[in-house]
Amino acid sequence: MQRIRRPTPQEFDRVLSSMCTRPHPDAQAAAVDFLATNPGDPATYQAVADLETQAVDLLGEITGLSDPNGYIASGGTEANIQAVHAARNLAQRERNTTAAASSTPTTPNIVAPESVHFSVNKAAEMLGLELRVVPVDADYRADLDAVETAVDSDTALVIGVAGTTEYGRVDHIAELTDIAHDAGARMHVDASWGGFILPFTDYEWSFGDAPIDSMAIDPHKFGQAPVPAGGFLARDRETVDALAVETPYLETTSQATLTGTRSGAGVAGALAAMEALWPAGYRQTYHEQMDNADYLASELSARGVDVVPPTLPLVTASLPTAEFEALREEGWRISRTASNELRIVCMPHVTRDGLETFVSDLDRIRS
Ligand SMILES: Cc1ncc(COP(=O)(O)O)c(C=O)c1O
Repeated sequence: MQRIRRPTPQEFDRVLSSMCTRPHPDAQAAAVDFLATNPGDPATYQAVADLETQAVDLLGEITGLSDPNGYIASGGTEANIQAVHAARNLAQRERNTTAAASSTPTTPNIVAPESVHFSVNKAAEMLGLELRVVPVDADYRADLDAVETAVDSDTALVIGVAGTTEYGRVDHIAELTDIAHDAGARMHVDASWGGFILPFTDYEWSFGDAPIDSMAIDPHKFGQAPVPAGGFLARDRETVDALAVETPYLETTSQATLTGTRSGAGVAGALAAMEALWPAGYRQTYHEQMDNADYLASELSARGVDVVPPTLPLVTASLPTAEFEALREEGWRISRTASNELRIVCMPHVTRDGLETFVSDLDRIRS
């Protein structure tokens, strides 16, 4: 039988579209050590279970939560799904214990800005909830009046994004939390992408800034951990308990995660990355990549390109399709927003030299 040649993995030099990055070397080594462990069965795989407790504690420190609950998920998608899942279960439980139980059943809803990641659409669809999508304001942040109008007594969850996927914007988390709690709903913050750089900004986004209930924060994005490593965090134990099911055949008798067997590599890699980089390394990454984003934005603007001013290290600009395609032909991995703009994410692997080459390729294409 003819052997298929194993391809080499993607190089990062020309990757400007991804929210993943080259993992920190310590994290890569730790991930390899724990490849054959399963934190989904913590009583059997106790060493990796201990690492997971430490990883969640460190995530709590980064996000302003002194006694954190949660786990290392497969990514932001799973963390968002679990936030919606917990909110639905808690809303149903509440409903069953109140007078509302005897009235006509209604469908719980979740309210989120149009900038929310598509994982929330998956969550709503799978969990049988109505997703009420509200517009963003002129600065691409959730429109607070629209959120206020959309919530009602059937709202189980309001979601705000701290670092949006297309424009890198941070919603008004404190105000959204007030709206959610006034309506009797829970508040989830999706900091999957922004969570490891936001501590070095003035934004109010964390558990320490507002009484939010849950958060997604991904070590495998700006956390510089190997894939798969997401973070699902909750202020109260009740949130995680609302997700738990019995697991009779395992040594551990209940499980609150969405997946069963999980990668111990994700857990060990996440912890090693955070130990190596929190806080000084992440601070440096934030400043370097913010400078890179400002550099790129100003170079594009100087060439007459319409740029959305970056507020986190993500640049969105209106580049003609022919130029976009020509840059892709040059090997640049670039992507587009839903509105067809060029979107460049300044992740830790992005260098100033690389961006200078990108800009000179653009000049050459145009000449
Ligand atoms: C804000 C945000 N939330 C969630 C996700 C989903 O994360 P993952 O692809 O790790 O599941 C992304 C992915 O880019 C994201 O940008």
